[in-house]
Parts: sequence; C-alpha cells; structure tokens
Amino acid sequence: MSCRAAILISGSGTNLQAFIDAVAAGNLELDLCVVFSNNPNAFGLQRAEKAGIPTACIEHGDFLDRESFDRAVIEELDRWNPELLILAGFMRILSPTFVKHYEGKVLNIHPALLPKYPGLNTHQRVLDAGDKWHGSTVHFVTEELDGGPRILAGRLRVDPNETAEELLHRVQTIEHQVYPEAAGLVGSGRVAFHDGQAWIDGKLADEPIVRTFP
Ligand code: GAR
Repeated sequence: MSCRAAILISGSGTNLQAFIDAVAAGNLELDLCVVFSNNPNAFGLQRAEKAGIPTACIEHGDFLDRESFDRAVIEELDRWNPELLILAGFMRILSPTFVKHYEGKVLNIHPALLPKYPGLNTHQRVLDAGDKWHGSTVHFVTEELDGGPRILAGRLRVDPNETAEELLHRVQTIEHQVYPEAAGLVGSGRVAFHDGQAWIDGKLADEPIVRTFP
C-alpha cells in the first residue's frame, strides 16, 4: 500500500502539480490524501480539486497566535492519517508543537543549496554573491528554520547575466523533478529520519544526494 501524503500549500502550487502529474504518470507511488492550505485563494486548491484530491483550508488570520493555529491544523490533518507531510510553498513557520507532533514525517523544499541561504530572497542573494551554483534542497523539517537533515538537492550553474526572476524559474523547474523523487524515497522507506538525522539506504547521510541539471 502506498504511503499516505498530505501536501501543504499557500500559493500557486506548481510543486503540487508536479506531484499530481508524477503520481498520474505512475512515476511516484504516493497516496495524495489531502491538500491543505492556509490561504483560501491559493491556486493550488483548484489544482487539487481538478485532480480529485480532497482539500482543507484553515486561515491563519482567524487565530490569535501561531500555537492555536497550528493546533487546529494538526487536528484537521490528523483526520486524514497522513504518514508524510509535504510542504510545497507553505509559507508559515511551524511551531515546535507542530514539528514535534509530526517528527520525522515533514518534508520541505527550500530554493537554495542548503546550508547556504536559509530564509528569503535566495535567488537575488546568490546573484549578489556571484555564486557559480544554485538550486533547491529537500530536507526533513526540524525546529531549525531550513535547517533539518538534507535528503536531495538539485543544482544548476548560475549564469551571471540572468535576473533573479529567470533564476527562480529555472530553479522551480528542477524542484518539480527533485521533490517528487525525494518524497518517493521517503515514502518507500529508502530514506528515513532517525535520531535527528537522515539515513539513506540504511547509512547515515552527512550529505544529500545531488542531481545536476543543465
Ligand atoms: C517553491 O519554489 C519553494 O521552493 C518555495 O516556494 C515555492 C512554491 O512554489 N518555498 C520556500 O521558499 C520555503 N521557504 P509553488 O507554490 O509554485 O510550488
């Protein structure tokens, strides 16, 4: 039986679409059991509905603080019994309560070659620094923002003449390949989280798997 995965979004959901397409094409064995959003206008909700995936939405603005919002999200998500939570452009910082509740089950994709450039504006920061390589990294979520154990990174060469917008689009294109691949590795049990670290095929992974793209 395939792994039950909830996908959490806040916006356009191009990564969500990549998961939907990979499952439909038979390239990814995951049961996408629910798509959750904190934003009722997220276009990704329409993508999910079109694909016949149940959706749920709770607006963070309706809550006094992060903790009470996160408790409501936990209550909603637990109804779907997810074994894996996939953050796909979910633009909320998760409380320690949330992270502990789903320890080892939450994946995020961050648009940088972590540990470089946690946080925002990664593409512009890469261009400003004159870096040769940029990309995106899939990692397990821990309480440290963008700091959990890394699983798989997709990288590409930076063209010093491109804009941050162009770089963003190139990076998003590789995200659509590496995120389903990484989630598939976790869903199948080849990648696991133990003792605060990532294990790949039973070996402690100090470095993520790296895929290089043109
Ligand atoms: C993705 O590029 C992802 O890397 C980024 O949000 C985008 C969502 O796009 N995530 C973060 O910045 C998290 N720190 P999408 O809604 O089209 O999938």
